[in-house]
Amino acid sequence: MPLERSSIEVGPKDAGAPWTLRIEDVTKAYDAKVVANDRISLAIDPGEVFGLLGPNGAGKSTLVKQLVGLLKPTSGRITLGPHDLVAEPAAARQLCSYLPQVQLPIDSFRAVEAIRLTGAIRGGDKATVRERADAMIEALDLGEWRRTLGVRLSGGVKRLVGFAMVSVWPGRVVILDEPTNDVDPHRRRLLWQEIRRLGESGAAVLLVTHNVLEAEKSVDRLALIDGGRVIAEGTPSALKAADRGRLRLQVMLAPGAARPEPPRFVLSEALVGHNLLTTISEADATGGIRWAQELVAAGVAEEYALGATSLEDAYIRLTGEVSASFAEDERAAG
Ligand SMILES: Nc1ncnc2c1ncn2[C@@H]1O[C@H](COP(=O)(O)OP(=O)(O)OP(=O)(O)O)[C@@H](O)[C@H]1O
Ligand SMILES: [Mg+2]
Repeated sequence: MPLERSSIEVGPKDAGAPWTLRIEDVTKAYDAKVVANDRISLAIDPGEVFGLLGPNGAGKSTLVKQLVGLLKPTSGRITLGPHDLVAEPAAARQLCSYLPQVQLPIDSFRAVEAIRLTGAIRGGDKATVRERADAMIEALDLGEWRRTLGVRLSGGVKRLVGFAMVSVWPGRVVILDEPTNDVDPHRRRLLWQEIRRLGESGAAVLLVTHNVLEAEKSVDRLALIDGGRVIAEGTPSALKAADRGRLRLQVMLAPGAARPEPPRFVLSEALVGHNLLTTISEADATGGIRWAQELVAAGVAEEYALGATSLEDAYIRLTGEVSASFAEDERAAG
């Protein structure tokens, strides 16, 4: 079957074909001991922003590398519309745009050149690629580095240039492995807007991220993977459903203080640095505050906060860990 030209103009919305990305029962074993993906099945529709979340080593990058033909599944099927992406790695490369977790090698290119060049390599017409490259530089607030050589770009700016490279002439599927890494909060917001816009243009966007709180606001659906398996899948609000009627009580322990024994009404807890994160039922709010106040009075805790639960709490409940973004935000906060 001949390859369709992949571009935003002949995007999935007007193609009339069911360009759903289907991952069916994919297993990838690196060797007898390391089964990095264990019978993973997911389907991502055109126009959808789909988040892939999970702790370090969960198998996220392994999965996305199989979509673009960089790794071959041990078993299982990956299809995009009429194409079998495992049997047709050339189709996989043509139809999927991919931002790898490691930085793209653009040392000897100026930012704007790197973006235009990838657009051209992907078959974009010159005028549209130039226009879109300029629009992306503007949208991501990268004007200052427009003509800076890749070798001189900071990690975060390089990441953003990489994102502009893969989305200047996007395929039907856009795969982003940790696009927000090293990006400052202002430009991260701009980046999320552009990611949403990619979905609106009709691409199926598969986004690997550690940033649970940002994902909560920006993805349509997500899958949580741990130990190579999908352990939960759905919309952010569906994943949070089990936390309905619950509150998060966060207790900042004093340096050197021993972890206090939680009262019986504490439903879940995780310790991140000196932060004790617990969830309690709304009905136990008063008891929770009393417990926290006692810890402060006894010098065990410095302060506490009671608030709404977020997707982060679902993440903790399901993986038993906090997400990397949460830990980072806490460090940044002091
Ligand atoms: N080339 C390889 N050879 C052998 N094992 C590998 C290889 N690449 C990854 N692994 C192992 O496969 C598992 C999944 O790794 P993967 O890189 O897919 O995780 P990840 O979810 O992307 O993690 P991170 O969040 O740290 O990027 C890990 O146990 C990892 O050590
Ligand atoms: Mg990874």
